[in-house]
Amino acid sequence: MAIIAPSMLSANFLKLEQEIEMVNNSDADWFHLDVMDGRFVPNISYGMPIIAQMKKAAKKTFDVHLMIEEPERYLEAFKKAGADYLTVHYETGYHQHRTLTSIKALGMKSGLSINPHTPVEMIQDIIGEIDLLLIMSINPGFGGQKFLPLTYNKIRQAKELITKAGTNTLIEIDGGVTLDNAASILEAGADVLVAGNTVFSSPNPTETIAQLKAIGK
Ligand code: DX5
Ligand code: ZN
Repeated sequence: MAIIAPSMLSANFLKLEQEIEMVNNSDADWFHLDVMDGRFVPNISYGMPIIAQMKKAAKKTFDVHLMIEEPERYLEAFKKAGADYLTVHYETGYHQHRTLTSIKALGMKSGLSINPHTPVEMIQDIIGEIDLLLIMSINPGFGGQKFLPLTYNKIRQAKELITKAGTNTLIEIDGGVTLDNAASILEAGADVLVAGNTVFSSPNPTETIAQLKAIGK
């Protein structure tokens, strides 16, 4: 059964509480929360204070995706803000093994994300430390972009690596997920689907979430 994680980046921030309620009452499993610093990615989103506020209204798992430089400086702050899964980018650090073990030591699930240009094999030696492998299916920074087909191969490679290693690592796909490509993404081996634009630009977000969930059944 696929895990569905609506990306709140595409929510209406003027009605954030209602948007959170909508997700609470939907078939969604997680909240996907995108943190951008204007350095690692060419956009700035929101940080700990907003996430901490959202946590008060949200009733589901917080999947926090850090698109920031030096993420190791903020692990504890995001734990305090309410992160359940905390994902850093492979490309942002010299010591990601240490960062992943620190995330777990703080009581969160550890996530590692790879950009489209990063080969899956770069993370093979540390797969045992990764609870969530986030494969970017767009270049990070903005919602509403088009899914990159090169992702399919990455998903298959990641699935093979995880099966061989015998870990429980979940594969999450983020960027350009739609009702049309969700089935192929899951077929390739993904476990978690992030969806921003597809959910929040639809006339009936609750129904769209239900449709995504039904594809993964
Ligand atoms: C982009 C973010 C994504 C984004 C996905 O860098 O990591 O989570 O919100 O949005 P869609 O689903 O619209 O591509
Ligand atoms: Zn994301």
